[in-house]
Amino acid sequence: MGASLCAPKKKKTQVGASWVGNESENPFDATLNKKDRTLLRETWQRLDDPKDIVGHIFLDIVNDVEPDLKKVFGVDRAPRAAMLKMPKFGGHILRFYEFMEQLTSMLGTSENLTGAWQLVRKTGRSHVKQGFLEQNQNQMEKNYFEIVINVFIERLIPFLTGEQVRVMDRSRSDDIIVHLQIEIKN
Ligand code: HEM
Repeated sequence: MGASLCAPKKKKTQVGASWVGNESENPFDATLNKKDRTLLRETWQRLDDPKDIVGHIFLDIVNDVEPDLKKVFGVDRAPRAAMLKMPKFGGHILRFYEFMEQLTSMLGTSENLTGAWQLVRKTGRSHVKQGFLEQNQNQMEKNYFEIVINVFIERLIPFLTGEQVRVMDRSRSDDIIVHLQIEIKN
């Protein structure tokens, strides 16, 4: 009998509607160490007003990167300045922000890795119901989830380095983002 057949069976527990395997199957446990997870949380917390920054990045995504997403979020007829106030678009920004807040807190503060993984799986499952995402993925091989995540990875960095900052502009309905020229002194 091979060693693998003698190995103890991995225990699975049912949480909510899905089966969650043991910790070794959890990518947050398998691919990140405690320091990585703490760093993720601390990095997220370093953002000055993350909800606002998430909103601005989503504005760029639907206006400049993937305008096809406008319709899904109900902003296809709205001018850019009014989009943040539209219920579906504004609601998604809030949910995205809350998702990041909860996820990074579970990873870096409470160390609830099972909860973190469940949250990601639950969110993934709820998006399968979005016919738009599935159709594009299957027929056009266009993964909007991946596109959104990559834009966020790229666009959050200048806010962390201080290259981009939010500036309140009372004459406009929203804040403006200012690009700073950073001088590196030796
Ligand atoms: C990393 C990328 C994304 C994250 C983290 C995210 C997160 C969330 C969360 C937390 C919710 C609310 C709870 C839930 O239904 O699970 C939600 C709902 C929703 N998401 Fe996303 N989302 C992402 C990308 C997208 C994309 C690319 C689309 C484009 C179709 C989309 C469309 C929707 C829609 C239509 C809802 C339904 C609720 C509503 O009307 O706001 N999401 N999303």
